[in-house]
Amino acid sequence: MIPLILLLLSSNLLVSSATATPLQSFIQCFTNKTNSPNLLSLPNTASYSSALLSSVQNQRFLISPNSFKPSLIVSAASPSHVQATVTCARAADLRIRTRSGGHDYEGMSYSAFTGPNTTPFIILDIAALRSISIDASSKTAWVQAGATLGELYYAIAKNNKNLAFPAGLCPTIGVGGHLSGGGIGTLTRKYGASVDNIVDAWLVDVNGRLLDRKAMGEDLFWAIRGAGSAGYGVIVAFKVNLVDVPSVVTAFNVGKTLKQNATKLVARWQELAHQFDVNLFIRVIAQAGTDTDGSKTIQVTFNSYYLGRKEELLPLAQQSFPELGLKATDCTEMSWIESVLFFYGGTGKPLETLLNRTPEFNSSFKAKSDFVQQPITENRLEEIWNFLMGAKDEQLVLIFEPMGGRMSEINEDAVAFPHRAGNIYNVQYFMRWFETQEGVTEKHLEWMRKFYGFMAPYVSSKPRAAYYNYKDIDLGRNVEGNGTNYLAARVWGTKYFKGNFRRLAKVKGMVDPANFFWNEQSIPVL
Ligand SMILES: Cc1cc2nc3c(=O)[nH]c(=O)nc-3n(C[C@H](O)[C@H](O)[C@H](O)COP(=O)(O)OP(=O)(O)OC[C@H]3O[C@@H](n4cnc5c(N)ncnc54)[C@H](O)[C@@H]3O)c2cc1C
Ligand SMILES: *[C@@H]1O[C@H](CO)[C@@H](O)[C@H](O)[C@H]1NC(C)=O
Ligand SMILES: *[C@@H]1O[C@H](CO)[C@@H](O)[C@H](O)[C@H]1NC(C)=O
Ligand SMILES: *[C@@H]1O[C@H](CO)[C@@H](O)[C@H](O)[C@H]1NC(C)=O
Ligand SMILES: *[C@@H]1O[C@H](CO)[C@@H](O)[C@H](O)[C@H]1NC(C)=O
Repeated sequence: MIPLILLLLSSNLLVSSATATPLQSFIQCFTNKTNSPNLLSLPNTASYSSALLSSVQNQRFLISPNSFKPSLIVSAASPSHVQATVTCARAADLRIRTRSGGHDYEGMSYSAFTGPNTTPFIILDIAALRSISIDASSKTAWVQAGATLGELYYAIAKNNKNLAFPAGLCPTIGVGGHLSGGGIGTLTRKYGASVDNIVDAWLVDVNGRLLDRKAMGEDLFWAIRGAGSAGYGVIVAFKVNLVDVPSVVTAFNVGKTLKQNATKLVARWQELAHQFDVNLFIRVIAQAGTDTDGSKTIQVTFNSYYLGRKEELLPLAQQSFPELGLKATDCTEMSWIESVLFFYGGTGKPLETLLNRTPEFNSSFKAKSDFVQQPITENRLEEIWNFLMGAKDEQLVLIFEPMGGRMSEINEDAVAFPHRAGNIYNVQYFMRWFETQEGVTEKHLEWMRKFYGFMAPYVSSKPRAAYYNYKDIDLGRNVEGNGTNYLAARVWGTKYFKGNFRRLAKVKGMVDPANFFWNEQSIPVL
C-alpha cells in the first residue's frame, strides 16, 4: 500500500486552492487541521476497500448500479477529527455520511442513490470512537457513538450484573445510528426505547462546534432522540441511564407449526402480549417452512424471556398465556448478558462473541415495518401465511415485537420517536437473498412491495406508521438538486414521525438552514 502522503505528492494534489478540486481542497484542509493524512482512504487503494467494507451489513448497495460510492473515507479517531471533517467538507462543498455501525437498511451511511445531481460524498466512519465509561453508582454511562450494542452490553455486565440498557437485539448495531433512531428490544416494554433513556449527548454541529445537551439546546436534543441524527450533525457520544435487571432471567423458545395450532396461538398472542407483566417479553418470529410430513407450513417461534426465575415464570405464563403450554423443560435460567447471546442465536458461546464487529451476513436484504393496533383475525392470519407459503424464492421473515407497558405511558411528543399508546405490536418484514444473477434484487424488491400492499388493511393507517430505524426508501425520498421540499417529504416524514415531523423540520431550519447534513431521508428544512 502506498502511503497517502506520497500519493498526494505524486498525483500533485497539493496544488493551490484556486485550481484544486473539492476533494483536493478537503484533503489539504483536513491534513492541515489534524496532521493525520493516514486517516484518509482514497479509491483504488487497499485501505479504501477494507475501510468501506468494514461494517457493511447489506451487500445490495455495494453491487447496485444505482449506488454511488464515497470519494474518500475518513476513519476518525478523535472528536477533533470529526470537527475537522465537518468544517473541511463544508468548505469544499462535499457532503458527508456518518457511519457508526453500518446497519442502515438503505445503505445511507456508506452509499448514495445515483442521480443527475448527486454530490460526491465522504464517509465519516467513527467506528474507532467507541470508548465506554460506566458509572454504576449513578446508574449512567457515557458511550461513544462508534461503539456497538454488544460492546455496550458487555461493558455494563462486566461492571455490574444487575444493570443493563434497553436497546436492540443484534450486537453489531452501532450506537450512533441506533440510539438516534429509536432503539427497540427486549427491555422496551419495561423501560421504553433507547431514546427514552438518553440524558445527554455530544454532537458536532454544522459549524464544527462540539456541543453537549446544554449547549445544543432542548429542541435539538429532542430531535436527535428518534429522528436519526444524520440530518442534524454528528453524534460523538451519548450519556444514558442504565436500568435494573435481576441476577437471573429465564429464556425460552416455543416453536409451533400450523398443525400445532400456530395460527390460533399467534391470534391469541396479539390480544395478550402488550398487556403481559412488563417482566415477560414474548416476541413472535414466523416464516414459511416444511413440516415433518413434507407439507408446507408456517414455523412460528415464540422467542422470549422473563426477567426473573423459572419458578416465578411458570405460574405467570400459565396464568397469562395458558394456550402456549409453556413447560419447565422449555426454560433456561441465565444472566441478562447471556440472554443477549440467546436472542442472537449464540447460546453457549463465550460472552466475548458480543465484541465481534465483523458483519455476520454476506448477502442483500430489504425490510419494511408496520405498527398493528387491532389483532388480526385467524382467517386473515391464514391469508398472510398463504401469501408467504406461495412465494417461490422469496423467504420472508415476519418479526412481531410487542409494545405496551412503558411504551404506552410516554407521550408521542416527549421525544422525536412517536410510536406509543394504541400500538399493540410492531411488525417487521425482513428478507435476505444472494445476488446470484441479474434481476434477483428487483424481483425480491417487487415481491416486498406487493406484500406491503397486501398488509395495508391490517395495520395502522393515516398515517401508515413506520419505524425509522427500519428505514424504507419506498416510502419516499428527498431528491438532490430539487431543493428542500418540506411538503413532499411530509408524505414519508409523517409515517416515521407522525405529529412530530413539523417540529423536526423547524429544528432543522434552526440548526442547519443550508441543509448541509442531507441524505435521501433526512429531515428537510422548514
Ligand atoms: C441485523 C440487524 C438487526 C437489527 N435489529 C434491530 C433491533 O433489534 N432493534 C432496533 O430498534 N433496530 C434494529 N436494527 C436497525 C438498526 O437500529 C438501524 O439500522 C440503526 O440505524 C443502525 O445504526 P448503525 O449505527 O449501525 O448504522 P449506520 O449505518 O452507521 O447509520 C444509520 C444512519 O444513522 C446515521 N448515523 C450513524 N451514526 C451517526 C452519528 N454518530 N451521528 C449522526 N448520524 C449518524 C447514518 O448516517 C445513517 O443515516 C437492526 C438492523 C440490522 C441490520
Ligand atoms: C494551514 O493552516 C494555517 C492556519 O489556518 C494556514 O496559515 C496555512 O497556510 C495552512 N497550510 C496549508 C498548507 O494549507
Ligand atoms: C389444536 O386445537 C384443537 C382445538 O382447539 C385441539 O383439539 C388440539 O388438541 C390442538 N392441537 C395441538 C397439537 O395442540
Ligand atoms: C459472499 O458470498 C459469495 C457467494 O457465497 C462469495 O462468492 C463471496 O466471495 C462472498 N464475499 C465475501 C466478501 O465474503
Ligand atoms: C425533481 O423536480 C423536477 C422538477 O421540479 C420534477 O420534474 C421531478 O419529478 C422531481 N423528482 C423527483 C424524484 O421528485
